[in-house]
Amino acid sequence: MNDFNEFNIYKLMNAEALIDTYKDYNPFVDLVITSPPYWDAKDYEGNSQQTGYGQTFEEYIDSLKKIFTGVYNISKETASLYLIIDTIKRNDRLIRLPDELAKLLENIGWYHKDTIIWNKGKTLPWSRKGQIRNVFEYILFFSKNPKEYTYNENQITVLNPKEWWKNYPERYSRLGIIPSNIWDFTIPAQGSWGSYGDEEKLQHACPFPARLAHRMIQLSSNPNDLVFDPFAGSGVTLRVSEKLGRRYFGVEINSEYKDLFNSATKLYVDSEWNDIKKSDEERERLLEVYKIMTTKLRCIKYAKLMLKKVSEKYPECVGILSSYEYYDKNEGGYYAELMCDFLLKQEENKDQIVKYVNEIISKAPMSKYNLSVKIQYNKYEATKIKELVKKYPYGYETFKASEQAFKSNRFIKEIPELIIMSDIAISEKDIKKIEKAES
Ligand SMILES: C[S@@+](CC[C@H](N)C(=O)[O-])C[C@H]1O[C@@H](n2cnc3c(N)ncnc32)[C@H](O)[C@@H]1O
Repeated sequence: MNDFNEFNIYKLMNAEALIDTYKDYNPFVDLVITSPPYWDAKDYEGNSQQTGYGQTFEEYIDSLKKIFTGVYNISKETASLYLIIDTIKRNDRLIRLPDELAKLLENIGWYHKDTIIWNKGKTLPWSRKGQIRNVFEYILFFSKNPKEYTYNENQITVLNPKEWWKNYPERYSRLGIIPSNIWDFTIPAQGSWGSYGDEEKLQHACPFPARLAHRMIQLSSNPNDLVFDPFAGSGVTLRVSEKLGRRYFGVEINSEYKDLFNSATKLYVDSEWNDIKKSDEERERLLEVYKIMTTKLRCIKYAKLMLKKVSEKYPECVGILSSYEYYDKNEGGYYAELMCDFLLKQEENKDQIVKYVNEIISKAPMSKYNLSVKIQYNKYEATKIKELVKKYPYGYETFKASEQAFKSNRFIKEIPELIIMSDIAISEKDIKKIEKAES
């Protein structure tokens, strides 16, 4: 068995020949991102060997079968494959290429994991009877092994939570929100290529938007992995792979596209790259803030919820003090250690209260907060509060245990490190006294 070492190569060949050319090679592909011709929909510059154009449907499917068997053979056991495809209309009938090709790939051995809708934003401006104006294509996602494949979902999370994230922080991963399965990536418009290369030809090659390739590569590969496209065309996938520190290998039948790859595509991807890099860096920065904010919000809501539930049943429970220590790493599945001190006006029912609290926190939703919680119960006395406050190193805020306080989002704006919720408001004077005692 040979080891493949033609990295970072755009190779002119018929992809049907993959099966024989690399039959003696150890599997070397980590990720396939590709879009084959959509049967006879387009003539890619009249190469008579090309798949699709000028072929019957059976010939087209046979050619793809040969190509994707070759792709399967050179793919590692842990490889993934993205196929971008669409339906076409022939003789007043919709030809469901996504269904046909999904079946074909499954028969070869690939596992169909998901279908994503790629909203291209714009497309041909027409519609016709029985066909609404089409703005999307299908992204079919496969893996070679049903379970073992690279899937870095934390790399593609979005960090622009909706307002209600603040009120339901326990429902959000602190690593951000996984995007939906509708992906909006506008196709590069004529003109966005600048004046480099042959713009018209590039359009004809149906280039992927750089950001689309970027998302698939980040989700399904790691640095230094090999990304392969057997229908390379303009080679956007290859260039983006290189930018992301992956190795690439592209195969294409039409030599004119190789020229484009070296001229226009390089310049197009490079011109997009500044923006992509900037948003990647901004995302990294935001992620740190997001992690801390989500944890803080969880801690605050947890303490508020406990107080609400307990004070409803046991009115002698007049407040709660709480503070937390944030874990930078997810320690034992926990995001933070939350310390809480219940304040009880009388202690007769303390045992029942403890039991009730344990019951509440062992069940969902409270058990889902990923917080390591330490709870203490204290008899409420004004002086004792001052002592308790001292043991919290971060400072504090006061809240009244009224309905209003639970509804209010005042805590959201300031995100205090320590909260006291009770009908006992600590006066400014008291605070000053405590501060003085501490210093
Ligand atoms: C839909 S385009 C791919 C566009 C590409 N995703 C991009 O970003 O530019 C399909 C490509 O497959 C090429 N092609 C067609 N038949 C082929 C074959 N048998 N082997 C290799 N390439 C082929 C065409 O020349 C065309 O460039």
